[in-house]
Amino acid sequence: MIPFDYQPRTRIVFGPDKVDTLGELAGELGARRALVISDPGIVAAGHAERGLAALARAGIEAQLFDGVGENPTTEHVEAGRAAARRYDPEVLIGFGGGSAMDCAKGINFLHTNGGRMQDYWGTGKATREMLPMIAVPTTAGTGSETQSFALISDAETHVKMACGDKKASFRVALLDPTLTVSQPQRVTALTGIDALAHALETYVTRVRNPVSLAFSREAWLLLGENLGRVLADPTNIEARSGMQLGACFAGLAIENSMLGATHALANPLTTHYQIPHGQAIGLMLPHVIRFNGAEYAHWYRDLLEGTGGANGFPPPESGCEGLANFVRSLAKRAGLPARLSECGVAEDRLPELAEDAAKQWTGTFNPRSVGQMEMLALYQSAY
Ligand SMILES: [Fe+2]
Repeated sequence: MIPFDYQPRTRIVFGPDKVDTLGELAGELGARRALVISDPGIVAAGHAERGLAALARAGIEAQLFDGVGENPTTEHVEAGRAAARRYDPEVLIGFGGGSAMDCAKGINFLHTNGGRMQDYWGTGKATREMLPMIAVPTTAGTGSETQSFALISDAETHVKMACGDKKASFRVALLDPTLTVSQPQRVTALTGIDALAHALETYVTRVRNPVSLAFSREAWLLLGENLGRVLADPTNIEARSGMQLGACFAGLAIENSMLGATHALANPLTTHYQIPHGQAIGLMLPHVIRFNGAEYAHWYRDLLEGTGGANGFPPPESGCEGLANFVRSLAKRAGLPARLSECGVAEDRLPELAEDAAKQWTGTFNPRSVGQMEMLALYQSAY
């Protein structure tokens, strides 16, 4: 057995319409003033209003900051810091997708510890206590609600900075699947593939341990079964629930075992070609499964054996190839491209991308070593 150190930091409250308890949950943290951090899409869908009404019913004063954009940058975080300075909240509520949740963490770093976002790149850089935070995810994807990392891009260099600190963990993750129903199909697809990748990548990292494996396995079962179902019927609350819990458990798996080569390969595609994260992940994951499977086929097979080939899962005897094809078929149903050449990536730039991918910290957790040569071969296989 591999040693581990796991301290649950986030209370998880789950169920349809649980968003209506947001006020009580904030009150239990001793807060009377809340800053709700969200984006214009979530506000337009009426979700933020529902959260604000719940806060008002519990006598919590609230201010809305809706200045979060897709792939949050240091500029979004700075704008949020200014809002926090003006309003002086006692609790921060990240209400939306991964962007809103990560932005809430970023704002908390700067508001409570000062400096600029770049100062927190890495892990454990905050010295002072931070404000308590509640996450209300409206997508089933990043699992940011159960992770202590904020992914914030430098607005000037476009480099994605992973800023992690255990103090930046949400105190409560409020999971209400009814909030995920109205998201556009494309968002369901992109975030769903990403969550599935989190389950599969975390299951085979170098630092996997009994805790991470438990979360990865359950996330795989929930996401593998339900992604196809939500794509076919977006209003299916049971399937939406499975996706939301699966994404949350996958977030806990990341917190305990990090990620791997798929994310290392995806990041440069987003930085240099603005390919959305979920699309880049969906492109690269089948190739990484085949690559890792050359040495770790037994681990992937364990996952397949856990399903017994039922509920649309590939049969255990199909092994890594079956698993890679299963991921590709889900990505195809989600309308995502199969090849890098379809995404405007120039073939002669693959070596440059591979150089960048080899520098990604997340790649160091991949079970097989992935240097520049391996990264290039993986890009070429996906081209
Ligand atoms: Fe991801």
